[in-house]
Amino acid sequence: MEDYVDVFRASLKRCLASEDFLRHFYHRLMASSEEIRQKFENTDLDRQARVLEDSLYLLTVAAQSSRSGEEVSPAWREMSRLAKVHSRDQLDIRPGLYDLWLHCLLDAARGNDPEFTPEIEECWRKTLAIGIDFLRSKYETGE
Ligand code: HEM
Repeated sequence: MEDYVDVFRASLKRCLASEDFLRHFYHRLMASSEEIRQKFENTDLDRQARVLEDSLYLLTVAAQSSRSGEEVSPAWREMSRLAKVHSRDQLDIRPGLYDLWLHCLLDAARGNDPEFTPEIEECWRKTLAIGIDFLRSKYETGE
């Protein structure tokens, strides 16, 4: 059986082949709440779209390296840094905002991967949950 991270990766590749995918995501995210709009008030969204693309690869590698037990792999070191940046003391991204983020991302994936199915959506959720749960768990303390 094909691994869920591989299914996610193939779907992500189809999404990124569409110029609209990242724009679609940020458009949805900005429309989703005033709180989120304020967080990104001073952000260059074109640059942030590239940051997101890199972040999605990072989440993929993190999902895979967690399973081989390499907790201090470069991907997890970078996840720790991001956890600190998103924690209460810095960007203050409260745990509930990750639900909106994921909702908007899945919406963009559904609209841009021509082969998208509920099974593929489940692979996105399972892969991303690993990184999202980690960032959420560090919200209060940053570490
Ligand atoms: C798994 C989920 C997420 C990942 C992997 C992620 C990743 C990143 C990365 C790589 C940066 C650039 C900062 C740096 O490298 O030091 C960043 C910045 C940022 N993120 Fe996230 N993020 C996630 C979720 C969220 C959520 C849910 C929100 C709020 C709704 C958010 C809001 C922000 C903001 C406001 C910035 C600063 C933008 C700026 O430079 O102006 N992030 N994020």
